[in-house]
Amino acid sequence: MAFKYQTTFALLLLLVNLRFHGNVAAQNAKLAASFIFGDSLVDAGNNNYLSTLSKADVPPNGVDFKASGGNPTGRFTNGRTIADIVGEELGQPNYAVPYLAPNTSGKVILNGVNYASGGGGILNATGSLFVNRLGMDIQIDYFNITRKQIGKLLGESEAKEYIMKKSLFSIIVGSNDFLNNYLLPFVSTGVRVSQNPDTFVEDMINHFRIQLYRLYQLDARKFVISNVGPIGCIPYQRIINELKDKDCVDLADDLATQYNARLKDLVAELNDNLPGATFVLANVYDLVSEMIRNYDKYGFTTASRGCCGIGSGGQVAGIIPCVPTSSLCSDRYKHLFWDQYHPSEAANIILAKQLVNGDKRYTTPMNLRQLIDL
Ligand SMILES: *[C@@H]1O[C@H](CO)[C@@H](O)[C@H](O)[C@H]1NC(C)=O
Ligand SMILES: *[C@@H]1O[C@H](CO)[C@@H](O)[C@H](O)[C@H]1NC(C)=O
Ligand SMILES: *[C@@H]1O[C@H](CO)[C@@H](O)[C@H](O)[C@H]1NC(C)=O
Repeated sequence: MAFKYQTTFALLLLLVNLRFHGNVAAQNAKLAASFIFGDSLVDAGNNNYLSTLSKADVPPNGVDFKASGGNPTGRFTNGRTIADIVGEELGQPNYAVPYLAPNTSGKVILNGVNYASGGGGILNATGSLFVNRLGMDIQIDYFNITRKQIGKLLGESEAKEYIMKKSLFSIIVGSNDFLNNYLLPFVSTGVRVSQNPDTFVEDMINHFRIQLYRLYQLDARKFVISNVGPIGCIPYQRIINELKDKDCVDLADDLATQYNARLKDLVAELNDNLPGATFVLANVYDLVSEMIRNYDKYGFTTASRGCCGIGSGGQVAGIIPCVPTSSLCSDRYKHLFWDQYHPSEAANIILAKQLVNGDKRYTTPMNLRQLIDL
């Protein structure tokens, strides 16, 4: 009896011990804040506050977003974005709040702020057909304001530590510079005539370099930069170009590939030149391409049609955004794409988990869990 008691007691101690150490480890690895920049792939509601044609503030967008009870939030998907899920996986206590929301003030900014905007790009001119959107230059101006607010909330030296060590800077941008700038015939013929793809891509990279230096000056140190996905293969492109299921649009795909190669060089350059900073390159292009190619392996029944907006108008249905009158698929978790541009929550979960825990195929030089542990 006494022996049993002792053993139980020892076991309990061991468990308490394990728990304690487990907790300490988890605490070290916890992400305090995400600062999120980019386009509609990660917009969490900024465009709700702009007069813009690029909006996701109507149902059925958000139908699977638990925190809003299924109401639209401005996210361009049925549930969480990649950035929401990355934050959750890394232990961030709350989602990053949209910068433009009127109640984004005071302590809520300590879990991060989202500056991303549907239609936004690296270049200022990108997305002008939507009338309004936040480009990267302005998003970083806004972070500069947030940076000062965090200084006031925590005191300057703690704020610096908080931003350098416990914050993740996530940037998903670039697709619109092609889709809603360079490749748009009626808006950008001027640009396309005056710039061949090489100089256009070079222009993007040069602007992006300056933008990332600015974030570094504002104490950002842990970065994840996504490359541009297979934009020639999204349902939008397949539909407007009347492609068959397996085909992709070459020009769009070539531009993405060319930009991604230059982005890889830029990330290596920044890792060499900016002391104390780590830039992780997220290879979303290869990951999404793999998911599109082998969609059935990931539990999807199609990768060529979005869940929202299928059916009714035939080919034309593809270019109308997801709105209350759109037709909706029956099983949202079996569609890789939510609408004609954006991944579904089911796809975002797979993407986010790969970036957080995955291997060198999709994140270099390390995954996001390792980045946060630095
Ligand atoms: C801010 O307002 C929105 C919309 O009313 C609400 O959904 C959200 O929970 C609020 N956020 C905070 C941090 O209070
Ligand atoms: C882009 O627009 C912002 C805000 O209007 C401006 O501050 C910035 O200088 C512009 N960038 C370029 C390269 O024109
Ligand atoms: C941040 O804003 C201040 C003005 O408040 C300006 O002097 C500084 O250059 C800005 N920093 C960056 C990196 O944009």
